Amino acid sequence: MRNLLSIEDLSAQEIVDLLDLAQSFETVQQRDVPKVPALRGKTIVLAFFEDSTRTRTSFDLAARRLSADLVNFSAGSSALKKGESLRDTIETIDAMGINAIVIRHASSGVPRQITRWTNASVINAGDGWHQHPTQALLDAYTIRKRIGSLAGKRIVISGDIKHSRVARSNVQAFAKLGAMITLVAPKTLLPPTLNGWPVTVSANLDEALEGSDVMYLLRIQHERMGQSLLPSLREYRTKYGLTTERANRLGSDCVIMHPGPMNRGVEIDPEVVDDPRVAVLEQVAAGVSVRMAVLFKTLGPGQFDRSEESDPVDRADSRSASEGGQT
Ligand code: CP
Repeated sequence: MRNLLSIEDLSAQEIVDLLDLAQSFETVQQRDVPKVPALRGKTIVLAFFEDSTRTRTSFDLAARRLSADLVNFSAGSSALKKGESLRDTIETIDAMGINAIVIRHASSGVPRQITRWTNASVINAGDGWHQHPTQALLDAYTIRKRIGSLAGKRIVISGDIKHSRVARSNVQAFAKLGAMITLVAPKTLLPPTLNGWPVTVSANLDEALEGSDVMYLLRIQHERMGQSLLPSLREYRTKYGLTTERANRLGSDCVIMHPGPMNRGVEIDPEVVDDPRVAVLEQVAAGVSVRMAVLFKTLGPGQFDRSEESDPVDRADSRSASEGGQT
C-alpha cells in the first residue's frame, strides 16, 4: 500500500488485513517496552493544518513505537504565514528526504492532490467533509473487538452526517465489512443526496435504535456550519441525543461510540458517558494500534504479506535483531 487516502481505495480484505495487523501491534503495546524497530531509518512528517488531539497524538505515538523519526510540522509557525503556497510547502518538505506525510486539512481532496507534489507516502488524517480513513479503521477495530465480525450487525449512525468525514468513511468501511447501516439526522444535517450510500435513513432515533448492535453518535460540528441548521441544541438533544432514557433501551451488549470530541449534553448525556457500553476510550486506544498498522503497511520493509506464516511483529523484531537494532 503506497498511500491511504480514502476507504474507497481499500477492499474488504485489505481492511481485514489492516485490522489483523493492528491486533498484532496491540500486543506490542502491552509489552514493558512498547516498541519495535520496524520503521527505523524512516522519516514521517505530521502536517496538521486543522486542530486535533486524538489523531495527531496517536500518529505521533504510532510512529515512535515503530522507531521512525518524526517531524511535527506546525502550519501556524511556518512560511505559509508569509504567503508560501501549499504546493511549495509540500515540495520543500519533500526535498528534505522524507518517507511519509500524514496530513489533515480543512479542504476535501488535499491529501490526494499532494500525492502529485511528493514521492513520499501520503496518509489522510482527515480532509474537510470528505474522509477520515484511519478513524473508520479504528472504529471497525473497536466494534470487532467488542462484538466480533461486523457482518450482519445493525449500526445506527446519528447526528451531523452532512459535515462529517467520519460518517462518509465509516459508512464505506462498515458496509464493506457487511454491516447494515441506518443514518438518523434532521434533514438539514443530511447531505443533499445520498445516492450510492449503502444505508437506510430515518428521522426517528427512537425507532432506529431498537435492536441496534452499535449506536454511533456524531459531533455537532459548529465550526463547519455556515448558517444555523438547527433550531436549538436543546431541541437537537431531545430528538437526536443519546439521553439516559434512550440508553436504557439499548441492549446490554450494544456498543456506544463517538469519534470525539464529545459535546456532552448535546449528542450524549453526561451520565451516559460513564456507561460501560460506551467505547470512546477504547476507540482512542485502538487509534494507536491501527495507525501503527497503517504506517507499517505503507512504509514497512517487505510490507505485511499474508502468505508469510510468521507474525509481522515477530518478523519486524527478527529483522531488527539481524540489523543489530534495539527495541
Ligand atoms: N476523532 C478525531 O479525529 O479527533 P481529533 O480531531 O482530536 O483528531
